[in-house]
Amino acid sequence: MKKVLIAYYSRTGTTRKIADLLKQSFNCEIEEIIDLKNRKGVLGNLSGGVDALLQRQTLIKQPTHDLSAYDLAILGTPVWFGNLSPALRTYLVQNRKYLPQLAFFCTFAGKGNINASKKFLRLTEKNARILSVQNNENTEEIKEKLNNFIRII
Ligand SMILES: Cc1cc2nc3c(=O)[nH]c(=O)nc-3n(C[C@H](O)[C@H](O)[C@H](O)COP(=O)(O)O)c2cc1C
Repeated sequence: MKKVLIAYYSRTGTTRKIADLLKQSFNCEIEEIIDLKNRKGVLGNLSGGVDALLQRQTLIKQPTHDLSAYDLAILGTPVWFGNLSPALRTYLVQNRKYLPQLAFFCTFAGKGNINASKKFLRLTEKNARILSVQNNENTEEIKEKLNNFIRII
């Protein structure tokens, strides 16, 4: 059986919800990527957005799982200004040499999901199945999308 790890960054919990739903399906381990820069409040929001836009890395907490020990990593992030969050970007760069098979998911409010997905593919230089979930989608829509995603990864 494939060894699967879900790793995600979430600032306000939306991406975490999707990560938790995926975890229920895969019954696998999960890693929350922690941004050590303060992303709270208006200033944190702004600095996060600017860092994302400029494709900057950040400081993240040392992950507790060794990505190279897994067959499949399902990696998630919110979309920030059409980009990956700096925390996920940093995680990917730090693990670039040891990336297993990948799948990608993102959550977003209105647009930028396709751009963020392209950034993911470009940065990892890998093929990956992609799931994006918009904040206003209802539970049924999300369930259906998740089921389709799970089926193909
Ligand atoms: C700094 C910042 C930039 C954002 N940029 C975008 C964007 O470009 N497009 C979009 O649809 N949503 C954008 N959003 C909204 C988030 O992607 C969306 O609310 C996401 O689901 C939040 O996930 P989280 O709760 O896991 O942090 C942005 C949010 C923040 C804080």
